[in-house]
Amino acid sequence: MKGIILAGGSGTRLSPLTKVTSKQLLPIYNKPMIYYPLQTLIAGGIKEVLIITAPERAGDFLRFLGSGKELGIKFTYEIQDKPEGIAQAFIIGENFIGDDDVALILGDNIFEDDFSEDIKNFKTGGHVFAKQVDDPERFGVVAFDGNNRATKIVEKPKEFLSDFAVTGLYLYDNRVVEIAKNLKPSERGELEITDVNNVYLEKGELTVSTVEGAWLDAGTFDSLLEANLLIARKEGSSIL
Ligand code: DAU
Repeated sequence: MKGIILAGGSGTRLSPLTKVTSKQLLPIYNKPMIYYPLQTLIAGGIKEVLIITAPERAGDFLRFLGSGKELGIKFTYEIQDKPEGIAQAFIIGENFIGDDDVALILGDNIFEDDFSEDIKNFKTGGHVFAKQVDDPERFGVVAFDGNNRATKIVEKPKEFLSDFAVTGLYLYDNRVVEIAKNLKPSERGELEITDVNNVYLEKGELTVSTVEGAWLDAGTFDSLLEANLLIARKEGSSIL
């Protein structure tokens, strides 16, 4: 399985913090943010990781991550010219993915859970991870039937479906490249990861498991602070 960290976008919600560097390189206690999603992939035994960045930030990522040799892995870098959707990662990454399966993680997603067994045991289809949240309208949301089977996923639903948000770690078999290539942009002009998930769901090939520990998408000032506090506590900071 190969890994992709999507770390593009303009980070406007965090401006002015993101005026001179990328959101995914902002500090989370003692390390840049991207370190945490990278650890999630490395823990799953992934050895080849594609980093996708915005054009003006690629040099910053290269300086921080380098070749990957020190970590025993190999980094490849690609540019996403414009933030045209999470699913575009599979089109940008087509050559990198080759004939393999792929784990995609968003560069601002920090998980407490250990997904190493899910990644190592992945066989076919798609596998997403849902977390119960207080503000599901901000996310892709998964609805379940009476037997706890996922029935549909809706991106930022206007009406309440469930409080299970689809988090930013996605495992797919190689068919995801063709699925991404066949997507049409949504109303907000993006190739939606939710549409990819619904393709697998309609085939009956999407596994949805739940996230038990903390999950943070560190894209707002408050979630950034929360992420800092979570990691500071884990690292035994003396001020908490
Ligand atoms: O965090 C999980 C949520 O991420 C999911 O529940 C949603 O289904 C999914 O659509 C996405 O929600 P947002 O639309 O709120 O994501 P956002 O636009 O904030 O992008 C998430 C991260 O991915 C962000 O750090 C920037 C990066 N990104 C996003 C897009 C659309 C890119 O690098 N390129 C892109 O084209």
